[in-house]
Amino acid sequence: MARVLILGKNGQVSTYLQRDLAASHEVVVAGREIMDLANPEKVYDALKEISPEIIINAAAYTAVDAAETDCETAFAINRDSVTEIARYAGDTKIPLIHYSTDYVFPGDASEPYLESDKVGPSGVYGQSKLEGEQAIRDSDALAITLRTSWVYSNYGKNFYKTMLALSEQRDELNVVNDQIGSPTYAGSISAATKQLVDIIVEQGGLLPEQKGVYHFTCQGQTSWSDFARAIFVEHEITEVKVIGIPTSEYPTPAIRPPFSVLNTKKLMKVFGVSLPHWGTALSQCVAETMAAAGK
Ligand SMILES: NC(=O)c1ccc[n+]([C@@H]2O[C@H](COP(=O)([O-])OP(=O)(O)OC[C@H]3O[C@@H](n4cnc5c(N)ncnc54)[C@H](OP(=O)(O)O)[C@@H]3O)[C@@H](O)[C@H]2O)c1
Repeated sequence: MARVLILGKNGQVSTYLQRDLAASHEVVVAGREIMDLANPEKVYDALKEISPEIIINAAAYTAVDAAETDCETAFAINRDSVTEIARYAGDTKIPLIHYSTDYVFPGDASEPYLESDKVGPSGVYGQSKLEGEQAIRDSDALAITLRTSWVYSNYGKNFYKTMLALSEQRDELNVVNDQIGSPTYAGSISAATKQLVDIIVEQGGLLPEQKGVYHFTCQGQTSWSDFARAIFVEHEITEVKVIGIPTSEYPTPAIRPPFSVLNTKKLMKVFGVSLPHWGTALSQCVAETMAAAGK
C-alpha cells in the first residue's frame, strides 16, 4: 500500500484511476482547487504539503484545437507544471507516472512508432506535451512517461460519447477515414497503470533502468470512421449510416497526425504489462455504459 497522489480530478483517466487504485492504496486527489497547474510556481509547495509516495499526473491541457490560440496556458500546464512536478519527484526520490500523447509524432510513418523514433509534433498541444516529456527526461526524477492515444470513456468529452449523442440526432454521420490510430479506453489505461503502481510498490520504487518513455495504448489500429461503426455495432444502433470522409473535408485548427499507431512492445518487455485490443476494450466500455443506464 502506498500514498498515491493523482493530479487531475474529473478527467477521464483520473476518474478510473481513483476507482481502481482506492482498493489497494491510499489515494489522494488534487484537483485544480488544490493545485492549479496553470500556476506552475505554486506546484512545488503544494506537492510538499501533500507529501505523496507516488505521483500520477493525469492532468493536462487536452483541448487540442484551443491550444493553437491559448498557447500560454497549454505550455504552463503541459510543460512548466510538469517541470515542477519532476523537480519535486527528483528532490524527494519518489516515483512519477506521467501521461503523454501520440501527438508528439508527425504521423507520416507507415509502421507503428517506437519510443526511440523521431518526434515532430504538428501543433501546440503536441509540442507542449513533448516539452513536458523532455522536462521529465532532463530532471533527476525516476519517472515513466506513458504515451497514449485516442482516449475515450463514459466520462468527459470524447469521440465515443460524441458519436452516441449524434446518433440520437442524425441518421447519417460524416466521419474522417484517413486518420489511423489506436482508440484507448480510459478504463484500460487505469487498469494497466494500477499494474505498474503495484509493481513499483512491490519493488520499493522505480529502478533506474525502468525510467523513460513507454507507448501505452490499446492494441490494434483503426480509422475514426471504422471506430464509429464499431461503436454503433456494439450498441446495436443500426439506423445510423457512417460515411467516411477525408480529413480535408473536416478541417480543424490543429493538424492531426494521419498515422499515430504506437508500438507497445517495450511496456510488455520491461514490465510484462499490456493493454487489451481496442475492440475488447470497446466492449468493456459499452458494458459499462449499459450498466450505468440500467440495461
Ligand atoms: N484525451 C485523449 O484523447 C488523449 C490522447 C492522448 C494522450 N492523452 C493524455 O492522457 C492524459 C489524460 O487525459 P484525459 O483524456 O484523461 O484528459 P481530460 O479528460 O481532458 O482531463 C484533463 C484533466 O486535467 C485537469 N486539468 C486541466 N487543467 C488543469 C489545471 N489548470 N489545473 C489542474 N488540473 C487541470 C482537468 O481538471 P478537472 O478535473 O478540473 O476537469 C482534468 O482532470 C493527459 O496527459 C493527456 O494529455 C489524452
